[in-house]
Amino acid sequence: MKNLENIYLIGLMGVGKTTIGKQLAKALQRPFYDSDKFIEKSTGVSITTIFNYEGEEGFRMREQEVIAELTSLHGIILATGGGSILKAENREALKQNGFVVYLQCSIDKILYRTRHDTQRPLLQTANPRQRLQALLAERDPLYRECADFKIDSGNTPGKIVVKTILQHY
Ligand code: S3P
Repeated sequence: MKNLENIYLIGLMGVGKTTIGKQLAKALQRPFYDSDKFIEKSTGVSITTIFNYEGEEGFRMREQEVIAELTSLHGIILATGGGSILKAENREALKQNGFVVYLQCSIDKILYRTRHDTQRPLLQTANPRQRLQALLAERDPLYRECADFKIDSGNTPGKIVVKTILQHY
């Protein structure tokens, strides 16, 4: 039986997982976790540094350990890193242990929201639009496979997104 006591947010970088997650946690009076922040806290270095020293592969291994740890907690709200659904083990852990919400947002909006960002290694490229389009094409089926519910977080005010998620949860 699927465990619904947790809420997990998935979706591309910049769709608002952290913002919406914090608001959900406040509304439900539950602890909020962010898998990237958790990795940074436990290693003492930034995600960018991990990518620089260990490559994406090394980061994904750390991410998998953290997703396993965080999905063993009860009654939490979790904002996952955008690529955490790439590993089948993570998708299973998320699907099994919580209500999974796929936040969707147009590439234009993501580009706008992340325009000053220097801390997302995958966007440090000459053509971030092309990168995001490729990531979306690769990941959208995986996000959908995982999700219990999906919602547009690009054009809808945060409060409404939170309210709608709570109505379907
Ligand atoms: C990544 C998303 C980032 C972070 C890392 C890789 C990705 O998290 O985990 O830079 O592969 O999409 P956010 O989705 O929180 O930005």
